[in-house]
Amino acid sequence: TGTSRINSLGHLEIGGCDCVQLAEQYGTPLYIYDEWLIREKCRRYMRAFEKTEMPFKIAYASKALSIKAVCQIIHEEGLHLDVVSGGELYTALSAGFPSKRIHFHGNNKSEEEIEFALGSDIGCFVVDNFCELSMLDRLAKKHRKIVPILLRITPGIESGTHHYISTGRQDSKFGFDLDTNQAYEAVNRALNLSSIHLLGLHSHIGSQILDAKKFESTIAIMVKFLDTLRSSLSFTAEVLNVGGGFGIRYHVGDTPLSEEGYIQAIVSAVKEFFHNIDYPVPEIWVEPGRSIVGEAGTTLYTVGAIKEIPGICKYVSVDGGMTDNVRPALYQAKYEAIVANKAAHLNEETVDIAGKCCESGDILIKGIHVPKVQFGDLLAVFCTGAYGYSMASNYNRIPRPPIVFVKEGKSTIVVERETYRDLLAKEHTLHKHNV
Ligand code: LLP
Repeated sequence: TGTSRINSLGHLEIGGCDCVQLAEQYGTPLYIYDEWLIREKCRRYMRAFEKTEMPFKIAYASKALSIKAVCQIIHEEGLHLDVVSGGELYTALSAGFPSKRIHFHGNNKSEEEIEFALGSDIGCFVVDNFCELSMLDRLAKKHRKIVPILLRITPGIESGTHHYISTGRQDSKFGFDLDTNQAYEAVNRALNLSSIHLLGLHSHIGSQILDAKKFESTIAIMVKFLDTLRSSLSFTAEVLNVGGGFGIRYHVGDTPLSEEGYIQAIVSAVKEFFHNIDYPVPEIWVEPGRSIVGEAGTTLYTVGAIKEIPGICKYVSVDGGMTDNVRPALYQAKYEAIVANKAAHLNEETVDIAGKCCESGDILIKGIHVPKVQFGDLLAVFCTGAYGYSMASNYNRIPRPPIVFVKEGKSTIVVERETYRDLLAKEHTLHKHNV
């Protein structure tokens, strides 16, 4: 997808920029983002909702990639933005993102973070638990504000995705449990807190969800709950947020719906279930993160050491790994890649792509078919745009790679490569004591 192609030199080209040249100019490892594709994803979600003629909001879940350049694009494309920490909020505000269009998530917001958000006048808090609810009411009074909130509900849904990125089960650390009446109690309390304005409910059942039925089941549960709330507490929701989690195509085995497919599934479920109970349909909010930036990102590495264990396997090591993409090590995530300087060559061998970290688990791709790979070749791993840079670390004191945005033959550096000096910027040596 996007603007990638093989150019006349047989090199991978993204956004009109030859990857071999990008590697020369910026070095590797390098995150390359196809700006057109990020914008296109935003537009597809917008168009999908516009077609339905339902009131909606799309908030980009910035945890997938929280950098100023992306916040700018999200703003220009007219989306809202969700943040989960003071750091993400600070990033969005620094990029000039309008605070009223920011929603604040998280299961353990600190008093400091809440005050920061209240002081910045953000649009909405998604309250996760009872501690937060009372803290927010107390701090809102201090700031003389009435704060719009959603309550995050755990609908008790198995989302069918990796355990670590599944959040809708009853035993989840997130949200108010529906089954044990916590959710009901939370609504009841919120309605009685004078500095809280309850807009509605939120649920997010997990990430990289490929089966739209999971959203339908969640919506059925949420609508039923809203119906109960209306009859017992006279509460009618203005908003129903069904979260994010729309899947993308990391490799051929993944079969996600299109942006429109997910939105249509959600909207038809919403229409049907609210119609059945004669309930005024609330505004529908969604929060895609991965599906906005995931496919737009490609990581470019240089091949270094190659080790063959005859009859067993062949390791091709690259100059990055779990420090710039922890997903294979953490979730056994699968990726596809090509040799960017040999993009037109035929595949000749099957190899394992290893990272450079001192961890046996630092294998980026197992059993990938590639042309004959040599020291110095460039490997492009696709679909690394979400949760790559945002989960990057300095393990083994490896500096984080830079990020370039490419569009119409031009590249722009939006995050610079970390230096060794950066790595030590916050460090001090011990004072020397006389022993
Ligand atoms: N809304 C809420 C409340 C969330 O917790 C998340 C993701 C999203 C929206 C966005 O989900 P998305 O559309 O990006 O799937 N590091 C993991 C993913 C963790 C997702 C956490 N929450 C990974 O790399 O797969």
